[in-house]
Amino acid sequence: MSDILVTENIQGASMIRLMEDLDVEFDAYLWQNRDLLKQKLQDTQALIVRNQTQVNQELIDAAPQLKIIARAGVGLDNVDTDYAQAKGIIVCFTPDANSLSVAELTIGLMMALLRRIPEARQDTLTGGWNRIKFTGTELYGKTFGLIGMGRIGSMTATRAHAFGMKIIAADPYLAADAPVLKELNGRLVSLDELLAESDVISCHSPLTPDTRKMLTYSHFSQMKPDAFFINTSRGEVVDERGLTQALLEHKLAGAALDVRETEPPEQSPLNQMENVILTPHIAAFTVEAQERVVDSVCEDVRLVLSGKPAINVFKP
Ligand code: MLT
Repeated sequence: MSDILVTENIQGASMIRLMEDLDVEFDAYLWQNRDLLKQKLQDTQALIVRNQTQVNQELIDAAPQLKIIARAGVGLDNVDTDYAQAKGIIVCFTPDANSLSVAELTIGLMMALLRRIPEARQDTLTGGWNRIKFTGTELYGKTFGLIGMGRIGSMTATRAHAFGMKIIAADPYLAADAPVLKELNGRLVSLDELLAESDVISCHSPLTPDTRKMLTYSHFSQMKPDAFFINTSRGEVVDERGLTQALLEHKLAGAALDVRETEPPEQSPLNQMENVILTPHIAAFTVEAQERVVDSVCEDVRLVLSGKPAINVFKP
């Protein structure tokens, strides 16, 4: 039994230092074995997780000594924050650490989709030299629609704007005169307007009871047939069957998904579609973002275990 339990693969220089200085048990696969995890939590004071450990009431009840849950990432959909906080457990996360990396991957996926880079690569590797077949489209002058305009959405929009794209956003928490919209000459629109007007739609919505399966077949059917959909937020925000159906019926031109309804995903017709790019939830996985994420959680754990206030405390 250790003071600090790390249940997923969260590595870096700060983690090594934490393991040298304090009593840490590191098991990258412990999230898969709930019974063992619950046993190990008996004496644990600090729990460090990514997004795969489901920190629900049952798990929290198994940890009577727990002082801090540190989530190495920004999405807190795998942590029952209300229950933890009601029990006096501090919940920390890393709100700013990986936003830039997610925004950059989103732009990368957009360019890959519009210029058909993965398809062209595959064709070239198998002996093709089909320049006309891989005629793409420019970003300049196109409309970029953001579903969710928080930290990551805003950073992505700023980059898309730099390419000369027009920015529109649907976000129930955004004011029509928000500074970010003024800066980018952007417009707040309804979801229906966004679906109808955008050439590229990018989803940056957190997963909450309100956003689960928020985007269905009927939404994808409202898109322009030459428009693209990108999701680097949470897979469960999308009804994947609905998206698949819409793609099969050419209601939209293609999609890039870094996140899936279940991770890792089951076999899916999406795997066979040339106009679909699938990546394994790598948006936050850059050297720089991971260093910031690991530094942040290790620092907060040290602070809390030494009786000091944590820095990145989640406030509902
Ligand atoms: C995040 O929420 O920080 C990213 O999606 C990466 C992750 O879940 O670990």
